[in-house]
Amino acid sequence: MSPLSNRTVATIGSGVMAEAIIAGLLRGKLVGPQQIVGSEPRADRREELASQYGVRMVASNLDAAVDADVILLSVKPQTLTKVGHELGGHLRPNQLVVSIVAGANCKVLTNLLEHREVVRSMPNTPAQIGRGITVWYATPEVSELQCDQARVLLRALGTDLQVEDERFVEMATAVSGTGPAYVFLVMEALIDAAVHLGFPRHVAHDLVIETLEGSTAFAKATAQHPAVLRNMVTSPGGTSAAAIHELESGRLRTVLSEAVWASYRRTLELGADLEKGLGLNEGASDESGTGRASNGARSTAPAERRIGR
Ligand SMILES: NC(=O)c1ccc[n+]([C@@H]2O[C@H](COP(=O)([O-])OP(=O)(O)OC[C@H]3O[C@@H](n4cnc5c(N)ncnc54)[C@H](OP(=O)(O)O)[C@@H]3O)[C@@H](O)[C@H]2O)c1
Repeated sequence: MSPLSNRTVATIGSGVMAEAIIAGLLRGKLVGPQQIVGSEPRADRREELASQYGVRMVASNLDAAVDADVILLSVKPQTLTKVGHELGGHLRPNQLVVSIVAGANCKVLTNLLEHREVVRSMPNTPAQIGRGITVWYATPEVSELQCDQARVLLRALGTDLQVEDERFVEMATAVSGTGPAYVFLVMEALIDAAVHLGFPRHVAHDLVIETLEGSTAFAKATAQHPAVLRNMVTSPGGTSAAAIHELESGRLRTVLSEAVWASYRRTLELGADLEKGLGLNEGASDESGTGRASNGARSTAPAERRIGR
């Protein structure tokens, strides 16, 4: 029996990600359409989801949330405070809130919603085809059953990883959450380079997509370190060696690392901005800031902390 059997799921803000969850839950027969209620301000969007999935759609966030067992918070970060004020003080114990809102930390969510049973998660965009990875953290008040419910909900988006320290969700935002943007940029650059060489664009597109997909599948199937796989295709004095020399000269690794750190700092800033808006971080030190200590040095990532349960 699914942990969501006989439970009601509400999606607050029924956009792209909420739809991916609705579709995944229904596809996996984890819930029936009658167990889902979504809120959405636009009437045409409400009609679209109701007719496509047979779910109940309402305009009021509170109406959607009030009787739900699991409440998915899937609005944009800039809408969170407004929506949170609508729901705050109206949630009952035993209702589980699962947030996918980027940057919204548990301190913000629990204070805004006046509710303790909260899961903070970070999915990524391949979730839209059920191939995402979601990293999630549950507050201590979330029960085992509710963790199971969150897991089932988030697995509608692909793979999941529960972490014991919320900071791993913040770090994951910079790696897997933002990761598809890095990959798409690399994809685009390679396609443009192939066009520059003389390939028609559609051929360049297919060559790059198949190469990325095949390389990922190969790395996964062999479970080899990427450096081992790269060495396998790097002959002495060969074409790969020449290309890799250029990539290293262009500081590719350093640039990628800086990009991940920039995304991480931005994640912390988003959380700090939300805290500030709620008056929660008065007198706070660097903890909520940019990920850099007051002297400008980068703070130490808690990489040694335990991830799994
Ligand atoms: N997309 C991703 O790949 C991804 C990955 C990781 C995390 N996330 C997080 O997931 C959340 C949702 O992202 P998304 O891509 O699904 O965004 P989205 O498609 O824009 O969905 C947000 C939905 O909220 C609705 N909305 C706006 N104001 C509202 C209000 N006052 N009350 C209730 N609903 C309201 C929007 O309606 P209108 O369209 O009418 O404005 C829209 O349908 C974001 O916080 C984002 O950070 C997304």
